Amino acid sequence: MFEFFYALPSQNRAASYRHFQIVPATGAIGADVSEIDLKTLGEEGYAELRQALLAHKVLFIRGQSLGIEDLEAVTLRFGEFGREPYVEGLPDHPHVVRVVKEANEKTPVVFGGAWHSDWSFQERPPAFTLLYGHDIPPFGGDTLYANMALAYEWLSPKLRAQLETLDAIHSPERAYGAEAKHNDLMENMAVRYGNADGETRSHPLVTRHPETGKKILYINPAYTSGIKGMRPAEAQPLLDYLYGIATQPAFTCRMRWTAGTLAIWDNRSTWHYPVSDYHGMRREMYRTTVVGEVPSR
Ligand code: SIN
Repeated sequence: MFEFFYALPSQNRAASYRHFQIVPATGAIGADVSEIDLKTLGEEGYAELRQALLAHKVLFIRGQSLGIEDLEAVTLRFGEFGREPYVEGLPDHPHVVRVVKEANEKTPVVFGGAWHSDWSFQERPPAFTLLYGHDIPPFGGDTLYANMALAYEWLSPKLRAQLETLDAIHSPERAYGAEAKHNDLMENMAVRYGNADGETRSHPLVTRHPETGKKILYINPAYTSGIKGMRPAEAQPLLDYLYGIATQPAFTCRMRWTAGTLAIWDNRSTWHYPVSDYHGMRREMYRTTVVGEVPSR
């Protein structure tokens, strides 16, 4: 494929906010947030933060000092907790998942190590995911994000019109089914895989974002297993084509972590990809989700 891809930086331009400063990460997606303390921010500040999150799709809120209970409290500012289907939460904090890779693990496999949006096979997948960096390697361990509204907008009107009539099938089978032995390689995370039955369901392939009204390409390589009514040999090349568009660098950003950074992403309009390039170094994060709506056209 030889195409010239571009994102107009106007799509990710910073507005001015009363309660914090914003610096866009790339022309496509993401912003760094500073001059904010999530522990003391009031209702108006959180309402403004949600607007910034909807606009930039992922926020990197630097310089926070959050304990587990603080992370829970920040999460609840955005809605109710989501359901964690495969990863054990912390004792006494069932909605908080520790994402950890120790320096002495035998393989470079990382949790969530493929482009995905979180739990898209659920009836109500998360609206938002929060990930707090606690212990960060000196280099490596970045997370990439992709803007699925931009990917959709790039497509030709004819293809968009066809995609809008389709439903995609989402399943946790490849990632968490009985054959998903890669889960055993994450030595320090309690992943309950092997019970993926019954979670398979379809969602519109193009959804309408419930808060912004924008159309979104709602598929992802980790959990989308096919397209309703199409043979696998028909569906897979189409999905692969769309995945190739979505991961164009012009539609992405790359988040460099520092300890004390909280990332919050809009899971309905983004993908993310944790880069596995820090084998032999330690990385420890804490993660929560906020339940979303049933995806709809
Ligand atoms: C995840 O997929 O939630 C993990 C992201 C990360 O570790 O950067």
